[in-house]
Amino acid sequence: MRVAVLSGGRSSEHEVSVNSGASVIRGLEQAGHEVVEVRIGRDGGWMAEGAAVDLAPGAGLLGADVAFPVLHGAFGEDGSLQGLLEMLDLPYVGSDVLSSATCMDKLTLKRLLAGQGIPQVDFVAVGEAGWRERCAELGTPLWVKPSRMGSSVGITRVEDLSALDAAVETALRHDPRVIVEASAHGREIECSVLGNEDPETSMPGEIMAHAEWYDYEAKYGEGGMDLAVPAPISEIETARVRELAAQVFTLAGCAGLARCDFFVEPDGTVLVNEINTMPGFTDTSVYAKLLEAGGLSYPDLCDRLVGLAVERHARARSYEF
Ligand SMILES: Nc1ncnc2c1ncn2[C@@H]1O[C@H](COP(=O)(O)OP(=O)(O)O)[C@@H](O)[C@H]1O
Ligand SMILES: [Mg+2]
Repeated sequence: MRVAVLSGGRSSEHEVSVNSGASVIRGLEQAGHEVVEVRIGRDGGWMAEGAAVDLAPGAGLLGADVAFPVLHGAFGEDGSLQGLLEMLDLPYVGSDVLSSATCMDKLTLKRLLAGQGIPQVDFVAVGEAGWRERCAELGTPLWVKPSRMGSSVGITRVEDLSALDAAVETALRHDPRVIVEASAHGREIECSVLGNEDPETSMPGEIMAHAEWYDYEAKYGEGGMDLAVPAPISEIETARVRELAAQVFTLAGCAGLARCDFFVEPDGTVLVNEINTMPGFTDTSVYAKLLEAGGLSYPDLCDRLVGLAVERHARARSYEF
């Protein structure tokens, strides 16, 4: 197939995306696909083959059969790009508009999980009635986050309630929607999910950040973290993580790929932290590493995702609208 690989983008995760995109291009080429590289600039402009890209519906995006958007955060992972690709009627890798937007927004996802009784830390939306009083009931430390961000940008760990306002101000610089969470105390465990309906889950891995928490430096700095695969948790905890990963993927309407992140508490309770519809995607990223431990090579993974995209697009178009 001819695959348009989209990377870059307008979010603070531009650089991360460019690295993931370069890996995807190599993977797809190794799997025998033809690739056209589309780079979305920080200004939002689309460039390919040295020229601006024609984004008119009906123009056919560069003759591609399928798009592989490898973008994180705003205008990439939040449903807006997915909406554009829907308008272009092009199959694309990953979750659709609704699912992307749902998973990008920590508050919306947490409310969805709460409705199904899925275990997670307690949380409060800044600005809702009585939010300050409810924050005080969550104990310390508190985690204050922009609702729609990633890569730990804008997140503050608050040790003392006197620091809450400053932390909210920091989060508000990134998003008018801000969430405050109670603290988990356990291991950080991640699980890769691959498929459309009835998706498969990887062996869980443990993130061991070489910092107080898994902040931006730990995520992307040289030697900032180690990944232990399989995670040193019990068989029961492993099964629970995998079961919840598939359940959250399906509940949130995800497609293709997602990485579901957890806290496994000292008493064995498994809490869902979040689900990322476009996790870091280089060949050494956690998402690919976990699947590779199960025998799926990176080129085969890229190939599978393109196939899943085409399959989902065909099914979506089979409905009357
Ligand atoms: N409620 C929490 N309890 C304990 N640690 C947390 C909590 N929320 C976030 N963290 C820490 O902050 C990191 C980033 O938070 P996360 O919600 O995953 O945001 P992002 O979308 O930026 O990855 C987590 O990987 C973890 O190390
Ligand atoms: Mg995270």
